[in-house]
Amino acid sequence: MPTAKVVFATITGNNEDCADIITDALEDQGIEVDESEISQTDANELKNYDMIVIVPYTYDEGALPEEGLDFFEDLQHLDLTGKTFSVAGSGDVFYEEFFCVAVDAFSKALEQTGATHAAENVKINLAPESEEDLKKLDQLANDLVKNTIHE
Ligand SMILES: Cc1cc2nc3c(=O)[nH]c(=O)nc-3n(C[C@H](O)[C@H](O)[C@H](O)COP(=O)(O)O)c2cc1C
Repeated sequence: MPTAKVVFATITGNNEDCADIITDALEDQGIEVDESEISQTDANELKNYDMIVIVPYTYDEGALPEEGLDFFEDLQHLDLTGKTFSVAGSGDVFYEEFFCVAVDAFSKALEQTGATHAAENVKINLAPESEEDLKKLDQLANDLVKNTIHE
């Protein structure tokens, strides 16, 4: 059975909600998913899964989650060739050019590991509540599975 690791960072719960939606959508497709909080996750664990999804919040005008900095640093030393990934995140459009920049930073770091960017990243404004938000997160999961299984 194909496997996925979903790693989230959250303060007020929005990114955990996004991660839960992605996890449910992956499980609906028969994927065995392990979801965990970023400070409780060793980046080396990513080597054990077929698919990787990171779901970070963005803080302080473009900052990465503080409790995820070790994970981010370790990620940059990994070779994840053969894995597929995507990144989702909730931020706040109020922060304009800094909206969800942690999503871009994690995406770039994962690209540099040699993993394949197999589904378009998703940026959500605050809580994932609208029909459109749910559709985008489901689409991420569907594309990730489609582009992993068929590789
Ligand atoms: C002090 C502060 C700074 C923030 N800075 C940013 C930012 O630079 N970019 C962004 O997109 N969102 C920013 N946000 C908004 C949060 O990322 C947003 O509320 C997000 O949904 C929080 O996710 P969480 O519920 O998983 O903690 C900021 C929020 C606070 C309180």
